[in-house]
Amino acid sequence: MSTTNPPKPLFREDGKRLSGREDTDLREIKMQVGIFKKAQGSAMAEWGKNKVVAGVYGPKEVFPKFLADPYKGIIAARYIMAPFSGAEEHGRAGPNRRSLEISKVVRHVFENNVLLQEFPKTGIDIQMEVIQSDGGTRVTAIAAASLALIDAGIPVYDIVTPISVGKVGGKMVVDLDKDEDNFGEGDLPMAFSLRTGELLLWQMDGLISRDELEDGLNKGFEAAQKVRVVQEAALKEKYGDFNGSDTGQN
Ligand code: CDP
Repeated sequence: MSTTNPPKPLFREDGKRLSGREDTDLREIKMQVGIFKKAQGSAMAEWGKNKVVAGVYGPKEVFPKFLADPYKGIIAARYIMAPFSGAEEHGRAGPNRRSLEISKVVRHVFENNVLLQEFPKTGIDIQMEVIQSDGGTRVTAIAAASLALIDAGIPVYDIVTPISVGKVGGKMVVDLDKDEDNFGEGDLPMAFSLRTGELLLWQMDGLISRDELEDGLNKGFEAAQKVRVVQEAALKEKYGDFNGSDTGQN
C-alpha cells in the first residue's frame, strides 16, 4: 500500500515559524567552559535542544610521526554523534560519511584560526561529541570547540562564531531546527571571525539564488553577534574579565 504524506507545514498561520520564532530569532543558547577535568581544554554548548561537548588536547606529539609538519602544527578534528543523540541514528555508533565530512570542515575552520606556525612538529586534537541533536549540530560543535581551544590555552586569532541560516518556505531564516533543516529548501551553515570579519566556514545545500545567499550571509553575520555574546560570557564565567586580575583557576 503506498501512502503519500502531506507536505509538513513549516510556518504558522500568522507567518511565524512553528517554534514561534521570527526569521532572525535564535534558539536559546547556553555555553560552559572547562567542563572536563582530564581534558586540557573543554566546553559544552547547548543550542536549542542540541547538546555538544568538546575536548581539546595538545600541542602534543603526532602519531604516526610522518604526519608531523616540520614548519607548523597540525589539527585533527573528530565530530561524532552519540547513538542516542538523534532519531535517525537508530543506535548505530561510529564514524560515517556525514561525520567524516563534518570533521573535515571543522578541521579546516580551525586550521585558519589557531596560530599553527607557533607549534611545529606537533598536533592538536579537537574532539566533539554530539549528545543530543536537533538541527545545527555542526555549528554547535564549532562553538564549543572554539571555547575548548581557548580553555586549553592554545593561541588563536579570534573566537570562532558559527551560525546556520537556511531557506525555509521561500524565506531566509536563521538558526534552523531539525524540521526546518530537513524539510526546508536549503541550508547554509557558516562560521565567522567577527574581529576580522573573516568567513571561516560556508557550506550550502539546496537551491539558493545569489540574492538569497547575500541575504542569508547578512542575516548570519547579524545573528553571529548574539552568539558571540554567549561565547564571551562563558569565557568570562571561568576566566573573569580578561584583565589579568582574575585567573579563573578553580
Ligand atoms: O546537525 P547539522 O544541521 O549540522 O547537520 P545536518 O546533516 O544538516 O543534520 C540536520 C539534523 O538532522 C541534525 O542536527 C540531527 O538533528 C538530524 N540528524 C540525525 O538525527 N541523524 C543523522 N544521522 C543525521 C542528522
